[in-house]
Amino acid sequence: MVSDDLRQRLARHGQDHLIDLLHRLNDADRAELLRELERIDLSELLTLFEKRDRKDALPERPHITALPNPALSPADISAFRTRGEEAFRRGEVAFLVVAGGQGTRLGFDLPKGMFPIGPVSKKSLFQIHVEKILAVRRRFGAPLPLLIMTSPATDAETRRYFAANQNFGLPEKDVWTFCQGTMPALDLATGKLLLETASRLCLSPNGHGGTIAALAESGLLDRLEQQGVRTISYFQVDNPLTMIGDFAFVGRHALEDAQVSSKALPKASPMERVGNFALVDGRCAMIEYSDLPDAWAQEKDAAGNLLFWAGSPAIHLLDVAFLREIADNADTLPWHLARKKVPHLGEADPKTPNALKFERFIFDILPHADRWTVMTTTRDEEFAPVKNKDSDGVDCPSTARQLMTNLAAKWLRDAGTRVPMDGDGNSIYQIEISPLLAMDADELRNRVKGIARIDRDTYLG
Ligand code: UTP
Repeated sequence: MVSDDLRQRLARHGQDHLIDLLHRLNDADRAELLRELERIDLSELLTLFEKRDRKDALPERPHITALPNPALSPADISAFRTRGEEAFRRGEVAFLVVAGGQGTRLGFDLPKGMFPIGPVSKKSLFQIHVEKILAVRRRFGAPLPLLIMTSPATDAETRRYFAANQNFGLPEKDVWTFCQGTMPALDLATGKLLLETASRLCLSPNGHGGTIAALAESGLLDRLEQQGVRTISYFQVDNPLTMIGDFAFVGRHALEDAQVSSKALPKASPMERVGNFALVDGRCAMIEYSDLPDAWAQEKDAAGNLLFWAGSPAIHLLDVAFLREIADNADTLPWHLARKKVPHLGEADPKTPNALKFERFIFDILPHADRWTVMTTTRDEEFAPVKNKDSDGVDCPSTARQLMTNLAAKWLRDAGTRVPMDGDGNSIYQIEISPLLAMDADELRNRVKGIARIDRDTYLG
């Protein structure tokens, strides 16, 4: 039955509603709920609940300064590229795509990675990422594994999808799928654990910051160390423009012995809804857009540029030894609280936020790094987020396809092809270049000769 110890623990942490329930359940259901309760930290949840209205204050302004944006010389870039190519050739790099979460805004029934994004081919996000990895592997002849982080909501379907498609050409031994952890949802008013069924708690994925604990717990961090991988190239499944195999980025990370490196994008507008890089007491940090005061967001430097210019496309390089340090100190990363509508046993269809959910964010490792680099990229080259439904008109499948098309158009123009564009700078025809044909403009120029003009939707593969 229910031990005295558990009864007291539940009561002490404001969860006494579960004591009655545990008594009423049949043996199998009780065993299931007890197992779930065993895995959670009631005292941590209570502390988080008690702090729910306390917003972590930003440090005082003098402690926060803008991220510098020094130009890199062609000689620097060339040295970085050479070192980066060496890292790939030596098999020191693994790719990691975060493909968990719940993808609520997109409203797609399957895991986001299965969304058909190819502007012409309708290939999925997963397939496009894998083909880029295949292209890098082919160039260097190194195993370079792909790690896929799923969530309980996406795990089974993702595994089935990769198996049914023979991993899109990647050998089975180089596809390492692992599932992120979860956190219970709490009733917003009372802090009580919410139930999905009588024997199961409402659990939700613990955020992309859960990557580190999940890597350690799955044993994959050990495997990376054993295989001599030093750098994880981390990206999100919902950005089909992520540059996989950016040799200069990886080379700079290695040459400067960085623990974390990140890509930054000049923001499109002061209030853009992306994380903001800044320095806090000289350390790299991310300030969420919702935390950046409007007045700071609008501030400009003497040259008229935004002071907080650097938005985050969530592309990072993570040093394996550094991740081990973070994983060994489980509480390094803070929990972020979100008020959400969570259907549960007592309320099937909440109309207003009724629950607290908890997530960790990967960028919270930044201030822990003593050595870091940030490399500037551009939205046109590297950021096409697929977050929302097409009806929202921003960061949605149609905007992402247009960005993919426009980049392909640019590469073709560089190769001497005429590509008709409209007055907004968008290619009139949809264009898609398979990563297996060309990884960049140079490769395309060498491979594709003699296309004078694009005069219809075009797939080059
Ligand atoms: P988002 O923050 O956009 O969340 O994730 P989401 O779950 O995809 O979508 P919404 O907010 O419910 O609409 C950014 C990236 O981080 C991954 C997602 O798969 C996406 O690639 N992610 C997010 C995880 O892997 N786990 C999480 O717990 C959250």
